Amino acid sequence: MTDRTAKIAVIGAGSVGATIAYAAMIRGIARQIVLYDLNRAKVTAEVLDLNHGLQFVPMAKIEGSDDIAICADADVVVITAGAKQKPGQTRMDLAGANAGICKTLLPQLLKVAPNAVYLLVTNPVDVITYIAQRISGLPPQRVFGSGTVLDSSRFRFLIAERLKVAVQSVHAYIAGEHGDSEVPLWSTASVANVPLHQWAVQGHGKLSVRDRTEIFENVKNAAYQIIAGKGATNYAVGLATGKILEAILHDEGRVLPVSSLLKDWRPLGRPDAEAIDDVCLSVPCVVNRRGVDATLAVPLNDAELAGLRASAERIREAAKSLGY
Ligand code: 2OP
Repeated sequence: MTDRTAKIAVIGAGSVGATIAYAAMIRGIARQIVLYDLNRAKVTAEVLDLNHGLQFVPMAKIEGSDDIAICADADVVVITAGAKQKPGQTRMDLAGANAGICKTLLPQLLKVAPNAVYLLVTNPVDVITYIAQRISGLPPQRVFGSGTVLDSSRFRFLIAERLKVAVQSVHAYIAGEHGDSEVPLWSTASVANVPLHQWAVQGHGKLSVRDRTEIFENVKNAAYQIIAGKGATNYAVGLATGKILEAILHDEGRVLPVSSLLKDWRPLGRPDAEAIDDVCLSVPCVVNRRGVDATLAVPLNDAELAGLRASAERIREAAKSLGY
């Protein structure tokens, strides 16, 4: 089912917010896209620029304001507002400032858009998603974060490049924190159905342990590299968020590694493993019009499970240090 009459509200008209609006507009995801930002000059300018391209995209109405009322009755609210990383800063360094912004914004948003699905993009996204759930009191299904959708896309791009295959044919996930403790799920990565650890195709190489380490380091450090060069990341996060919006508003049931609340979560086939509980992080989830419709139990080897636990601990500690 396609909901072409839907309304998306993007909070924050910085480079990430504006690029999400652009991605949503060119993909024709919703009929109405609104941008909200405290900076009236900036939001007005971004909306003007987007509107000047309307002739070339599917029918849409794009508006912006510094008045939160613009978000009234949105179907999805995408939160990007907050401080961004400066060169040398980690995402976690932003936790205090951005939790404060979330605390101020959410009650205002809930008043005008009480039925929306809330998609958090602001970093550190797992901590902010957890805090947003606690503040909003909404069903966890309706409050989730962009998580490692972007990291998984970076991962697939690098694997595809090495193996000289299309990125769409690579199936591989990054799980855990969208940040320094993220975990590459090598054990289940595949090209088509060929497990990556068995891939050895003439002319398309195979991945050595060293290749894998290099690929993962590149994924983990991608944002640092881009921020050092241009001050922010925006295109890939815009497209990744566009894909999540499409999964929601077109009721796709697409499996995406978004950051959702884990309750008593164990990997597939490990009923005796200690559960990961009450923390937001990314594992593959089914995303549809209801939001996160299912958080999947996926197979993990011991190293991946240990990595995911360490990631959960780090996110939980950060939330706790902020009083959540
Ligand atoms: C990214 O990974 C900075 O979280 C942002 O591009």
